[in-house]
Amino acid sequence: MCGIVGYAGYRDSQPILLESLKRLEYRGYDSCGVAISVNSALETAPTIEVHKDVGRVVDMEKNLPCVHGRVGMGHTRWATHGEVSPANAHPHLDCSGRIAVVHNGVIENFQSLRDELSREGHHFSSETDTEVIAHLIENYYSGDLERAVARALAELVGTYAVIVMVAGHEELVVARRESPLIIGVGDKENFVASDVAAVLDYTGSVVYLEDGDIAVVSGESITITNNGDRVQRERQVIPWSVEEAQKGGYEHFMLKEIHEQPKAIENTLKGHISLIEPLIALDVVKDEGLEDVLIVACGTSWHAALIGEYVIGKLCHLPVRVKVASEFNHYDMAMDKTWVWGISQSGETLDTLQAIKKARALGCPTLAITNVPGSSITRIAEQVFYTRSGPEIGVAATKTFMTQLVALYLLAMSFASLDMMVYEGLIEGLRLLPSKVQQVLDEVGKIAQHARELSPYANVFFIGRGLNYPVAMEGALKLKEISYIHAEAYPAGELKHGPFALLGRTTPVVAITTKDDTYEPMLTSIKEIKARGPQVIALAEEGDEDIEQFVDAVIRLPQVDPLFSPFLNSVALQLLAYYTAKERGCPIDLPANLAKSVTVP
Ligand code: F6R
Repeated sequence: MCGIVGYAGYRDSQPILLESLKRLEYRGYDSCGVAISVNSALETAPTIEVHKDVGRVVDMEKNLPCVHGRVGMGHTRWATHGEVSPANAHPHLDCSGRIAVVHNGVIENFQSLRDELSREGHHFSSETDTEVIAHLIENYYSGDLERAVARALAELVGTYAVIVMVAGHEELVVARRESPLIIGVGDKENFVASDVAAVLDYTGSVVYLEDGDIAVVSGESITITNNGDRVQRERQVIPWSVEEAQKGGYEHFMLKEIHEQPKAIENTLKGHISLIEPLIALDVVKDEGLEDVLIVACGTSWHAALIGEYVIGKLCHLPVRVKVASEFNHYDMAMDKTWVWGISQSGETLDTLQAIKKARALGCPTLAITNVPGSSITRIAEQVFYTRSGPEIGVAATKTFMTQLVALYLLAMSFASLDMMVYEGLIEGLRLLPSKVQQVLDEVGKIAQHARELSPYANVFFIGRGLNYPVAMEGALKLKEISYIHAEAYPAGELKHGPFALLGRTTPVVAITTKDDTYEPMLTSIKEIKARGPQVIALAEEGDEDIEQFVDAVIRLPQVDPLFSPFLNSVALQLLAYYTAKERGCPIDLPANLAKSVTVP
């Protein structure tokens, strides 16, 4: 979604703003812009120079005059109010052209504010909700920008992270409500951004703003108030390096992140299972009296939750419900003794944040599973389990999904009362995961070949059973989002209840065949499918010779305890999606219309 950056310091802001915006491209955007407070000659009034356009930052940069100024802001827009156009791109100015604003979030009462401001004589140049903020501030501004911003924000209904500046002033006023905003702390310079990826090149130290915070940021100082009171926010070290947020020689971030999975799994396990003792040490505590778990999440995180449902059910015999976060608002079941977990790699997905807030309002204890330190979900949930994937830049989630699974397996194992032998076997299974996943990655050439065969088709079905049905869902999601092939996942037994009508020679089926109690029924489903003409590609473990006779192609995976099969099957399906998209020439890291962190309802 939209990304915002700001700079106040001793250097020319323009190159810093452009580089920072490029670091936020992964969030997804359709237009971009920068505004710089220009150090005018003494005899002329200070001005703000705004440049904005539709399309990529690099393209805007080509036509950008060199503008000098030590304070500025930039924005990548993902359209919500109004079409994709230069006029609707941010920054937006007030009538005088002296106040500039960039904004992430949604202002729900913008139409009534706009009508009122128009009656007062304000002229609007865009269709956006953001522009009303600039005009409202203009109404209240008489020399004290912080005060004017506070008064304007008090009139807004909705969510925002904003940066505001006035021509000629050496500071930015920034504020947040339910949209992420951080301040990167430098030496005689400070940086503002919607996430840490934008500031990693310049500083390793950040302040995470809280909801309701308004900060005045200059090169020399940062002062923060909340509700009119001065507050201190702890300065924190960013646990990610610049290198982790770069492609490191890979053609795409997604491919790099797929290959980083053995390390990401190892890092997430580290500290939780000792390498010598079969020990799990989690900081997460289960309250006495809790009788069930409800997990809320979106997209890929929801698929992780669905796998978690099986694993927790199997190991802990604890009832688990899983809800798509955006549906949780419409959910009205008893939750008196329910522990609510929210899974969100970014920690900023609005639907998931709102679901956790609702759970808290209902009095449920809450746990967040996230990859991003300091993200909003870590402030809302009472307990946090951090996955340790490092930054994920590709829009399609891969390594964060893998570590969400690790988190869910660890939680399930820690709450289970297991026989010691079983427990040790599971710990061993976890320890072996990085090397087993590496073995799948080593077969990348063969999987790429299957992807080439899949690439001409317009529709693909994915089928699985039990634990691997959500894996099939994740495989279908990966394929559709990056290759633009329509892909659907079904529990294999369900195909004959309708989808069979669509099967034929032009609808290949990817079937997950794991050697557990689902294997025989899966073969039955495959035979029924083959009788109707589709090509079937099976994911099957090494040593399963029977499968060859029933299918057209086999992707081989190392043998593991079937409970851990989702890890290996998912990696194979990620690679299948990646190479299919590559064959089709798709923009893999930035799929059309998608955003990395979905901060709007
Ligand atoms: C798909 C994908 C999305 C996210 C979803 C939730 O590859 O990345 O479906 O999984 O938007 O995002 P988080 O986990 O950040 O809440």
